[in-house]
Amino acid sequence: MAGGGAGLSVRALPLTYVAHAHAAVAALLVLVWCIHFRGGLAFESTNKSLIFNLHPVFMLIGFIILGSEAIISYKALPWSKEVNKLIHLILHAIATVLGAVGIYTAFKFHNESGIANLYSLHSWVGLGTICLYAIQWLYGFVTFFFPGGSPAFRRSSLPWHVFFGLFVYVLAIATAELGFLEKLTFLESSGLDKYGSEAFLVNFTALVVLLFGAVVVLVAVSPARVAEPHGYKPIPVEA
Ligand code: HEM
Ligand code: HEM
Repeated sequence: MAGGGAGLSVRALPLTYVAHAHAAVAALLVLVWCIHFRGGLAFESTNKSLIFNLHPVFMLIGFIILGSEAIISYKALPWSKEVNKLIHLILHAIATVLGAVGIYTAFKFHNESGIANLYSLHSWVGLGTICLYAIQWLYGFVTFFFPGGSPAFRRSSLPWHVFFGLFVYVLAIATAELGFLEKLTFLESSGLDKYGSEAFLVNFTALVVLLFGAVVVLVAVSPARVAEPHGYKPIPVEA
């Protein structure tokens, strides 16, 4: 859709700056939450909460932000389509791996704390999301990169690639929303002030992530260049 768009008359490039700004704010907020309010991050610790804290950090900064930057790379970067394609596929690969590491930290936290696994809607949708993401990546790689389908097959696959890509991306955003809600609810039911600064911070982080997702989808469905209004022909400028 890089060239076409869904008939929206908004240029994608300025929107990519809005997306980067949301990414930076979301990353900052989740770090302030997990490090300042929740005590920090650790792979190994007797304080198992520090292991859990890696989960939102990896899922938001590693999976969602890198995946978002991969999606908007076609509209955000000035290079050739071939170079942008390579950046798109590499960023998505890193996002998938960091997402898998982030999910591993949630399981590690549960296992080392004697908590059951996979009991929540968040965890079910989350596991489904990362599986679909990996499938989408493999399908994209085989079709558009190596060995690559025939030109006709690529052409007919592309709209499906964009549709499933955006679908699985929206699933990732929805999973993160469920995760923030779930964790904040756990904290509030064990005594956290419902109107305290931490509760506001978590809810604002989730709101920024929601808006971020909307801007990224808007970038993907917006044309790189805005077409002239129907029937309008600009007066040619003499060379
Ligand atoms: C797209 C991003 C995310 C994915 C794919 C994801 C996936 C998962 C999965 C698969 C589990 C289950 C682990 C187990 O059963 O041992 C889990 C647990 C958990 N996640 Fe996430 N997560 C994401 C983002 C977040 C975020 C941003 C938060 C915010 C704090 C969060 C909070 C939690 C909590 C509280 C648990 C433990 C309770 C439960 O299993 O539901 N997650 N996550
Ligand atoms: C989970 C991984 C992936 C997701 C979520 C994803 C998602 C997307 C999305 C949403 C678009 C539309 C971007 C736009 O029109 O602005 C797109 C375009 C595209 N993707 Fe992917 N993608 C993934 C992996 C891959 C891989 C591995 C390749 C292999 C090269 C690939 C090749 C392409 C190509 C060729 C386009 C078309 C760009 C254009 O229209 O100029 N994608 N992808």
